[in-house]
Amino acid sequence: MPDIRKARIDDAKALALFAETAFRASFGAMNTAEDMDAHCRSSYGEAIQAAEIADPGAVAFVSEEQNRLIGYAQLRWGKAPDCVVARSPAEIQRIYVAQDWHGKGVAQALMQACIDEAVQRGSDAVWLGVWERNPRAIAFYGKSGFVEVGDHTFTLGGDPQRDVVMVRSVG
Ligand SMILES: CC(C)(COP(=O)(O)OP(=O)(O)OC[C@H]1O[C@@H](n2cnc3c(N)ncnc32)[C@H](O)[C@@H]1OP(=O)(O)O)[C@@H](O)C(=O)NCCC(=O)NCCS
Repeated sequence: MPDIRKARIDDAKALALFAETAFRASFGAMNTAEDMDAHCRSSYGEAIQAAEIADPGAVAFVSEEQNRLIGYAQLRWGKAPDCVVARSPAEIQRIYVAQDWHGKGVAQALMQACIDEAVQRGSDAVWLGVWERNPRAIAFYGKSGFVEVGDHTFTLGGDPQRDVVMVRSVG
């Protein structure tokens, strides 16, 4: 199983490319090109990922196999929806695994790194929003101990989409 490590600033360029490629491969067919392009412009790019990696209110984890990124997860601390009842909730903002590594445990290892980091930083819960039309991710979160507590709107480009909000207690 490939190791998980925290992302460094010099990962930013490769991480931006990996994240955008994974996002487009996963959701491109179900959304318009305009919405995908707008989302990718505002979410992925070397400067954007460098700023996120440097942000003390976030942590990014990566997994590599033979110098190739195969997994990425990002945890952050900030505002949570009202349906997340916790003292100090951490959010899994992103978790992406390369398609040829799906079903091989990389996602579980990234998830464990996120949970461990959340506990270390004193969080009592981890939450996330997942598109209602993403059954594989919903199944993965369910088997990782997350339960549905509500929903919120995630706007992809100009398209308001329903995200299921899921929470797991930690610590
Ligand atoms: C979400 C993601 C990180 C999960 O990692 P993974 O390695 O695929 O996860 P796993 O294979 O361990 O678990 C997925 C589960 O969903 C099941 N599954 C697969 N396709 C499914 C479908 N169409 N409907 C319901 N369940 C499905 C799998 O069988 C598996 O369950 P099992 O272990 O009981 O067989 C990965 O699929 C991914 O990167 N997806 C693209 C990006 C993405 O959607 N990220 C999440 C955004 S919120």
